[in-house]
Amino acid sequence: MKFFVDTADIKEIQELNDLGLLDGVTTNPSLIMKSGGKIADVTRQICEIVKGPVSAEVTATEYPEMMAQAKVLAKIANNIAIKVPLTWDGLKACRALRSDGHMVNVTLCFSANQALLAAKAGATFISPFIGRIDDMGIDGVELISEIRTIYDNYDYKTEILAASVRTVNHVKQVAMLGSDVATVPPATLKALVHHPLTDKGLAQFLADWAKTGQTIA
Ligand code: E4P
Repeated sequence: MKFFVDTADIKEIQELNDLGLLDGVTTNPSLIMKSGGKIADVTRQICEIVKGPVSAEVTATEYPEMMAQAKVLAKIANNIAIKVPLTWDGLKACRALRSDGHMVNVTLCFSANQALLAAKAGATFISPFIGRIDDMGIDGVELISEIRTIYDNYDYKTEILAASVRTVNHVKQVAMLGSDVATVPPATLKALVHHPLTDKGLAQFLADWAKTGQTIA
């Protein structure tokens, strides 16, 4: 499973990229707002760091304006994936942008039928928001399983990009279900390394090592 990081925080992106962990980045208008920078500047900086797809989202809701914004965003770098919402106009923009050779991430997906439409529109990525479904008291991870089945049934090439990932358990679950990508906030990505038995075992080894009085180098 590929890891994308879900942030517009340049320092976090740089650190995770230096570790060789990043296959891409997703941003959205809320994350750009949090970064405090201008969308073009922030997105350009991200694309200078990360080689994989960097999603940049349109903020228009009508097809002609979406296309105009998409053209501006696409010019920022060759690895931009244009993010469009899962609406009729978004699907129309998806089809047109794919025909023009751009990567497209169809976002705000909350049902398997929406994901089916995105695949038929030729989306490069579909972003089901599992955490926001959990927030409604419904199991969001189940949606990944439904989409996996449908895409495999018909051999759709659209990649499932699990989004709104909130916990380390989400990461494990979507990986087990065959999500192609998970976009994960930096803190959750870093939390994947932790296990209490690792900490306990390391403390024990270090304590015993100290008792030997030896040094290695
Ligand atoms: C995905 O591309 C979105 O940016 C993101 O995962 C949304 O997550 P949230 O529900 O935590 O805001």
